[in-house]
Amino acid sequence: MAVLVTGGAGFIGSHTAVELLNSGRDIVIVDNFSNSKPKALDAIKKITGKDFKFYEINYLDREKLEKVFEENKIDAVLNFAGYKAVGESVKKPLEYYENNISGCLVLLETMRKYNVKKFVFSSSATVYGEPERIPLTEECKTGGTTNPYGTSKLFIEQILKDLYASDNSWDICILRYFNPVGAHESGLIGEEPQGVPNNLMPYVVRVASGELKELSVFGNDYDTPDGTGVRDYIHVVDLAKGHICALNKLDKEGSGLYIYNLGTGTGYSVLDMVKAFEQITGKKVPYKIAPRRAGDIATCYSDPTKAKEELGWTAEKGIKEMCEDSWNFIQKNKE
Ligand code: UD1
Repeated sequence: MAVLVTGGAGFIGSHTAVELLNSGRDIVIVDNFSNSKPKALDAIKKITGKDFKFYEINYLDREKLEKVFEENKIDAVLNFAGYKAVGESVKKPLEYYENNISGCLVLLETMRKYNVKKFVFSSSATVYGEPERIPLTEECKTGGTTNPYGTSKLFIEQILKDLYASDNSWDICILRYFNPVGAHESGLIGEEPQGVPNNLMPYVVRVASGELKELSVFGNDYDTPDGTGVRDYIHVVDLAKGHICALNKLDKEGSGLYIYNLGTGTGYSVLDMVKAFEQITGKKVPYKIAPRRAGDIATCYSDPTKAKEELGWTAEKGIKEMCEDSWNFIQKNKE
């Protein structure tokens, strides 16, 4: 039996593929390289010393996707094939809804056709909108997303709840990621955003390497200890391991619908991150204070207790590994 990983060449998909192989599972990867590169697949093989089947297809292509289910014994699916750039989603809402929602629907319909009902979905803390309270627990209200990317995550969560209500032989786990950063310690896989990065860590890394001139800190007048935005940064390898724990839970429990936050439970401000990065790498990160970015909130961090109690999962890597591994990856992958 194999786990199907859609978007397995991407940032979180590739790290999860490594952990799946390391945990002794067989995998099949589907990716169309819309926001990833083929070399990630070789890197996964190199890191794990294991091989896997790969299909270069768009997961919206129903016929080709069905072929994957026909040719392999799939027993669970992890879906990383979503578009994820917030700003781009505002400019291209139809493309985002088509890829993220229609793609997920095609995947779920195909799973149903082949009687595969174990599904782990990559959701986001963005579904909480303006946090009702901090730290965020899974019980906090969702909604009020401020962009099509976030709304696509919210809609898919609802679709999954409706699906489970209609047929409770499904076995579904929704994982709400906080802010994934870092890279595999080998430096072979990591985050490679196309163009100028939007997220903090990729931007910081490119300023430190001299590729970009300076960081704009978006607002220093928030109600936080130093006035800059506070987030729950989580190392991507910890995040990847969370998926293995989620799959183990689904294997053990039979059917159900579960929701977990994947975060560390610790909040760092933008300036905390800049200072930590400088200290750990010895590189300067010049910055200026800029106006607030539209749609940003002051503080967002998780209460990860539920994942600890029910999945036996806790984030193990700290800010040191997050900075070190992000830096190591960019050093090793200069164009
Ligand atoms: C964003 C998305 C979220 C998505 C996540 C991971 C929004 C509102 N949220 O989270 O939906 O799941 O990325 O892809 O866009 N910052 C700067 N300067 C920069 C970049 C960021 O000061 O050049 C600050 C931000 O204002 C924020 C913090 O750094 O306070 C983190 O920003 P970012 O990495 O973009 O993540 P989020 O906005 O938390």
